Amino acid sequence: MATEQQSNIAILGAGTIGRGFAVAFAAAGHSMRLYDPDAAQVDAAREQALASLASLAHHGLLDGAPEVIAARITPATTLAHAVADAALVQECGPERAEVKAAILGEADAHAPPHAVLASASSALPASAYAADLAGRARCLVAHPGNPPFLLRVIELVPAPFTDTETVARAAAIFTAAGLHPVHVAREIEGFVFNRLQGAMLREAYALVRDGIASVEDIDRIVRDGLGLRWSAVGPFETVDLNTQGGIAEHARRLGPAYARMGAERGQHDPWTEQLVADVVRQRRALLPLEDWSARGAWRDAAIMRTLAARKAASD
Ligand SMILES: NC(=O)c1ccc[n+]([C@@H]2O[C@H](COP(=O)([O-])OP(=O)(O)OC[C@H]3O[C@@H](n4cnc5c(N)ncnc54)[C@H](O)[C@@H]3O)[C@@H](O)[C@H]2O)c1
Repeated sequence: MATEQQSNIAILGAGTIGRGFAVAFAAAGHSMRLYDPDAAQVDAAREQALASLASLAHHGLLDGAPEVIAARITPATTLAHAVADAALVQECGPERAEVKAAILGEADAHAPPHAVLASASSALPASAYAADLAGRARCLVAHPGNPPFLLRVIELVPAPFTDTETVARAAAIFTAAGLHPVHVAREIEGFVFNRLQGAMLREAYALVRDGIASVEDIDRIVRDGLGLRWSAVGPFETVDLNTQGGIAEHARRLGPAYARMGAERGQHDPWTEQLVADVVRQRRALLPLEDWSARGAWRDAAIMRTLAARKAASD
C-alpha cells in the first residue's frame, strides 16, 4: 500500500497550474497521472516539467536527477484512468463553475473512496460546484500560488459540507509534498492569498489612475522595497519589527494614518482596540519582545542574502 509520503496523485488539467503541481509532487517523490482532454497540453506539460526540474537542479533545489523525477509524471488518456488509484485528485481545469462541477463529478464517480478531491480554484469556493456531488464531503479548495513548486504555500478552504477528515488528509499529503498548508476558516471570495494581492492591486491601479506614480515605479517600490522585506517576513512581522515597542506601538502611532488612507478609498475597517489587542497577543506569542532586536538582525541578514543572490545573478 502506498504511504502518505508516496501517495498517488491525479492532476486534472495540464495548463499553467497543473504543470506546476506536477513538478512539485514529482520533486517530492510522488507518482502521478496527468489528464487533459487536450492531449497536446499533456505533451507540452511533460516537456515543460522536465525543463523546470532541470532548472531546479541547476539551482541546487532538487534531490535526484531531473529525468528520473520527470518519469513520475505519467499521462492518462481518460479522467477515469487518471483518478483510479489516487489518494489526492487535484483539479486544475478552467475557472468556470460548470466545468469544475463536471470534472469533479466524474472524479467522484471513479476515484477510490478514500481519495480527497481538491480544486485549484483561484476565487470560486467549492460550494459553487461541488454541493450536488454524492462525495461532496471529500471536496475542498486547495489553492496554490503560481508556480506551486516555488511558492510553498497552499490554501485549504473547506465548504460547509467538507469533512474535517478531508481537510486533515489533504494537509498531510500537501505537507509531504513540501507545501505548507494554510487553513482558511470558511469560504470567502479570493480566499486569503488573492484578497491580500487584491488589496495591493486595487491601490496600485488607483495610484496609476490618479497620476501619482507610474506602473514601473510602483513595481519598483514593491520589488526593491516592500517585497524585498516580505521575502523574509510578512506584513504583520514587518511592522512589528519596524517600530520599537512592536506592533502595539506601530498601531498607536500609524493606525490613524492608515485609517485615513482607507477612508479616502471608501473603506472603513477600523483597527479597534480589541482587534489590535488580538494581533498583539498573536505576535507576542510568536516573538516575545525580549527577542525583538535579534529578530530584526535576522531579518536584515535574510535581506542581505537575497541582495547577494540578486547581485550574483546579475554579475
Ligand atoms: N494561473 C495561475 O496563476 C493560477 C494560480 C492559482 C490557481 N489557479 C487556478 O487553477 C485553475 C487552472 O488555471 P490555469 O492557469 O492552469 O489555466 P489554464 O488555462 O492554463 O489550464 C487549464 C487546463 O484545463 C484543461 N481543461 C479544460 N477542460 C478540462 C476538463 N474537462 N478536464 C480536465 N482539464 C480540462 C485545458 O485544456 C487547460 O489545459 C483555475 O481554476 C485557476 O483559477 C491559477
